[in-house]
Amino acid sequence: MTPTFEPTVPRERVQALMQAEQARYARTHARSGERFAQGQQAWLYGAPSHWMRRWIGGWPLYVQDAQLPYGARFVDVDGNGYADFCLGDTGGMCGHGHPAVVEALARQARVGSSLMLPTDDAAWVGEELSRRFGLPYWNLTTSASDANRACIRLARMVTGRPRVLVFSGCYHGSVEEAHVELRDGAVAMRNDIHPNGFPHDQLSAVVEFNDVPALERALRAGDVACVLAEPAMTNYGMIAPAPGFHDALRRLTRETGTLLVIDETHTISSGPGGYTRQHGLEPDMFVIGKAIAGGIPAAAFGLSAETAERVWQVLPKLHPTKRQSAHAGFGGTLAGNALTVAVMRAVLSQVLTPEAFDRMLLLAQGLAEGVNASIAAAGLPWHATQVGARVETLFCADAPRNASDVRRTRDGELEALLHLYMMNRGVLITPFHNMMLCCPGTTEREVDEHNAAFAEFVRECKG
Ligand SMILES: Cc1ncc(COP(=O)(O)O)c(C=O)c1O
Repeated sequence: MTPTFEPTVPRERVQALMQAEQARYARTHARSGERFAQGQQAWLYGAPSHWMRRWIGGWPLYVQDAQLPYGARFVDVDGNGYADFCLGDTGGMCGHGHPAVVEALARQARVGSSLMLPTDDAAWVGEELSRRFGLPYWNLTTSASDANRACIRLARMVTGRPRVLVFSGCYHGSVEEAHVELRDGAVAMRNDIHPNGFPHDQLSAVVEFNDVPALERALRAGDVACVLAEPAMTNYGMIAPAPGFHDALRRLTRETGTLLVIDETHTISSGPGGYTRQHGLEPDMFVIGKAIAGGIPAAAFGLSAETAERVWQVLPKLHPTKRQSAHAGFGGTLAGNALTVAVMRAVLSQVLTPEAFDRMLLLAQGLAEGVNASIAAAGLPWHATQVGARVETLFCADAPRNASDVRRTRDGELEALLHLYMMNRGVLITPFHNMMLCCPGTTEREVDEHNAAFAEFVRECKG
């Protein structure tokens, strides 16, 4: 059934609750407010990253410290404590202050952070990436955006084709080709940022997620170098692939000579080998970022054996006497530096372990069950959805199949209210739709705190 938007909470109630929450936030976050005001002097958007403006309440809260010992809690400069389900939108998926991460960072920083040369940890990390994710050849970058850009560059290099196909509603970082959406059946620049400055229709193709006929039409044009896709969408609202969608995507990309890049930056929440391993996907290229180095900037992309062979034909692997150009346009000075690789080893061997995922998945299930129980008790047409350790509350009855469904059912005002309401009760959720993530340091206590605050939210929405 096609979901449609019906405000499930009267607007006057949403606005009245919002006013009360805003006043409460201002009262209890005054010091953060002062710092943000001061930040206007130096930062382009008041804080070091434009994203930090995204927080609701008028200003972002300023973090004092993660609460020790290790876990998923922190305190802000006003002394408020939080159960952290945002976890730096996955950058903090290892939790705050994991002893193995702290130890690896300190040890490596003492003996050399960035040398543009490999260390002994590199062999272990390379082998572990291959073992975990199933692709044999890897390269490190400093961010998932960088890794995606590298995959696009390589895909163009080996196919000689210009376009990149993405799914409407996607987000793959600061990747120009992916800042597009489907509007009136055509490719449009997302947010209309420099709409005339980028030939997006020549460099990008966009179709709705789960739309196999549209995908087939776009790929049969024969000018698409790669499809860049999250295996389940997590950046517009969480959207699951329909049964058979991944089979069709793989079959059509193979039939049309298009490379398939699976971006697991967020869906690593599925399990230790990501969604790919859990569902037996067979990407030509694979991207993992954010969580992989315990919160310091790092990402990796992997290539299948066949794709690597094609890359080496254009950009040879080894030459005993000739230097290779450094200007291949991927990797970078800081990519794979000694510090990053040391922490990656700690993360892969001691933090994001299969046992840790087992616990995280159970805790996430507790979140989803808590949300669904409160919704059922109130008789509201909402639901929770889960991708492993990641959960989202959706203000609609039916699961969306694509970005258009999300757009039709999105209640932006209610979303903003939920975020502020939870923050005022010491629970932090990701500031992009209603997403939450569990880390190895999350405990039942945080889950209970979330579920209690959410139950209160539902009761107040019901009136
Ligand atoms: C699926 C996906 N890919 C890539 C990125 C980009 O990550 P980064 O900002 O670390 O480059 C994001 C960021 O949210 C993402 O969600």
